[in-house]
Parts: sequence; structure tokens; C-alpha cells
Amino acid sequence: MKHPTSSPTDRRAFLRALAGAGGAAALAPALGRYEALAHEIASLQGGAWSAPALRERYLLAADVSYLNHASIGTVPKAVHEAHVAYLRLCESNPWLYMWGGAWEEPRERVRAAVAGVLGTSPDRVTLTHNTTEGFSMVAAGLDLGPRDEVLFSSFNHPGASVCWEHHAARRGYRVRRFALAATDAPGWSADDLVRLHVEQIRPETRVLVVPHVDNIVGVRLPLERLVRAARDAGVAWVLVDGAQSAGMIPVDVDLSGVDGFSTSPHKWLQAPKGLGALVLTPDLRARVHPTWVTWGQERWAGTARALEDYGTRNLPELMALEDAIAFQRALGVDAKERHYRALRDHLRARVEASPALAWGSPTSWDLGASLCSIRVRGRPAADVSAELYERFGTVVRPFDLGGVQALRVSPNVMNDRAEIDRFVEHVEALL
Ligand SMILES: Cc1ncc(COP(=O)(O)O)c(C=O)c1O
Repeated sequence: MKHPTSSPTDRRAFLRALAGAGGAAALAPALGRYEALAHEIASLQGGAWSAPALRERYLLAADVSYLNHASIGTVPKAVHEAHVAYLRLCESNPWLYMWGGAWEEPRERVRAAVAGVLGTSPDRVTLTHNTTEGFSMVAAGLDLGPRDEVLFSSFNHPGASVCWEHHAARRGYRVRRFALAATDAPGWSADDLVRLHVEQIRPETRVLVVPHVDNIVGVRLPLERLVRAARDAGVAWVLVDGAQSAGMIPVDVDLSGVDGFSTSPHKWLQAPKGLGALVLTPDLRARVHPTWVTWGQERWAGTARALEDYGTRNLPELMALEDAIAFQRALGVDAKERHYRALRDHLRARVEASPALAWGSPTSWDLGASLCSIRVRGRPAADVSAELYERFGTVVRPFDLGGVQALRVSPNVMNDRAEIDRFVEHVEALL
């Protein structure tokens, strides 16, 4: 029997074949869902979309202004429906889908789709559950000893930091965290960013961990340059937290030369929650002992998959990752980037024109992201953010940057300039 294949059209053919083979009643709902996804994707091709029209294609509540896509993404309706279709399909014959091999080949296509987004080859991709898990696996599985140091800055998210601290205590290696001043971000150049990291490297620094885009002020690191400089300074492995970059900005893991990259497609790829990807070079992968060990794993020895098999897994959710990627591809990398950039420029102009607000992110798009820090004066950011939500349904994240109060605004494709205008006006009214 043929298995579900990569494109929605192929999947429809597959489902029709299955329906024809006798399961028509059970499969009819799934077939309808795939029709919807294929239609949705076709209508988006070529970047012909506008934010207000796109909003209808998401499940966001009408009274919510969701400007917090950096915390967690929202799944397009069509992807959600495809996910539900997989759940139904799975329940129609659980053995077939979970253990009978029907989703073995599609699982490899999910891997290939992820590899395409991340700029690497499928054989380097381990399908995890989130960024934190990817880092936990590497920290648990990599042999480091008392002469080794793992280095990261205060911009490193706990999801890429805590695991190293945890294992260091047991294994005797050292973890060093150096301070980067978030309030300096608007003035940083690419040279500054490379220098600020490289000057911290010492002879014992074996591992450098950095966020591609940090979650505080949205600084985008020049990865290629940083990796080259770190290697010249003697670092063995550069590991990158891509939670805030994959799906938002172009990512090319292989080209950047990093040794490891861990990400969370439930943020900017708008995939179902609890999906992740870890990319390791073959050299590093060979040094990482698997965290999960289970029967049948010998089959995957020497492959990225050896790190991901832990027994029964929620495969319907994993299948939907390919659909999430198809949806994002249909939106178009360039069209998305144009949209993010235009919204960011608009927000920055509004902020700079306001006496109560100040821009706190890098000024150039090349060093920034759709993750912007807006400083507020006169009130704690946490209070402003709570009131924004209570009174206007606006979701943003507050930060206290060592006494400087800031709101993090992270818009996505369905947010438009009018929503940004309302946000600025509402904040001004609360200060
Ligand atoms: C930069 C960064 N790294 C890691 C994480 C943790 O993500 P997850 O819980 O999906 O592992 C986050 C979450 O916001 C993040 O912003």
C-alpha cells in the first residue's frame, strides 16, 4: 500500500486510494482536511497575501492582539486541520500508523522538509520536541571533563544553559556565563558582536553556546563570522540556539559552519506544540551518547535518528510538521521577511516619535529580527503588560533589563500596521 506522501496533492491521492480500498467512511473527514490544506497552500503561493486576510486563516481569538510569537507560535487553521486528520487516521488503525510502518517513509519526508528549512541534509536532522531537549541531549551525551569549559553569555536562554550547569556539577567541567548589556543592543555592530564573544574565549573553552536570535532584545548574531573567529580562538564546538530564528529568518546551518543547532518549530514555523529539531555535524553526533535508549535502535546506529527513538511517540503531531513547513513555504521566505521588516520599521518610527518610549533593539534589520524591545518609562513593564492584556487583549512580554523597563513585541505574518499603531497608542495611554 502506498503511504502518505509529501505534497498535499500526493496525500489526497493516497487517501483516495485508501478510501477506495474500503475505508471510505473513516477516511472521508481526513480527505476533506487535505483538500482544505492544498487549497490554502495554492492560494498563498507567490507571496500574494495580506496580513488582515491572513488573520482569518488562524485560530486567534477576535479580541486578542497577539504580538508574542516569540513566546509561542499559533498554528494556521489548515495545519491544525491536517493535524486533526492525522489523529483521526491514526485512530482508524493505530497499529498500522504507529508500528506497522505506514508513517516510516513520511517521517523521513518530515526530516527532509526540516532539513530544507534549516539548510542542512536530512541525515543530520534529529526530530526532537523542542530546543531545550536538543541541548539537554547534547549536554547529557557529550564527554567533557575537568579541563573543559562551556561558555555562554547572559543572552543565552535557560533552555540552552541549564542543562550544561546541571551536568557540569556532576562531571566536573566548568560553565562560565559572561554578561552582555541588553541596553547596549541598539549601538552594536557585527564587529562588536563577534568581538564581545571572542574576547571571552580562554584556552579551556571547549564549547561556545549562542542564540542565533536572542529572546530578550532580538539581536541576530553573524553566525558565519562568529564561528570562524571562535574556531581560530580554539573553540572545539559552536552550538546554536535557533528557537527564535528558524522560520523567521533564513537559516543555513551547514553554510554557517556551526556544529550543532537546536530549534523549536512551534514558534516561527507555526507547527503543533512540542516539536523540535536538532542538527549535529556527523563528527559531533558521533561523540554524543544517546539520551534515550530502546529496543530496535541498532537499526539507526550511526544516523541522526539514533538520538530520537525513545519508544511510542505522538506521530500525528510529527506528521503535521511537514504541513506547517509547507504552509510557511507557501507564504514565502522573501515575502515574510519583507513583512517583518516593514512592520519593524513602522514600529520603530512610532516608538522614536514617542516621548514615553525608546527603541531597544539593534537598529539594522541585518542584526535584528521580528522581535523588538520597546523601553517604557515611569512604570514597571510587568504592570504595563498586564494592563495591556486586561484592557485591550494585547499579548506582549515584559522584561526588566537591570532596571530598564521594556516590552518585547514579536509580530508575525497576520499582524499589520494598524495593530502596531493601536499597540503604541495603548501603551502611551497607560504610561
Ligand atoms: C532563545 C530561546 N531558546 C530556547 C527557548 C526554549 O524553547 P523550548 O521551550 O521550545 O525548548 C526559548 C523559548 O522562548 C527561546 O526564546
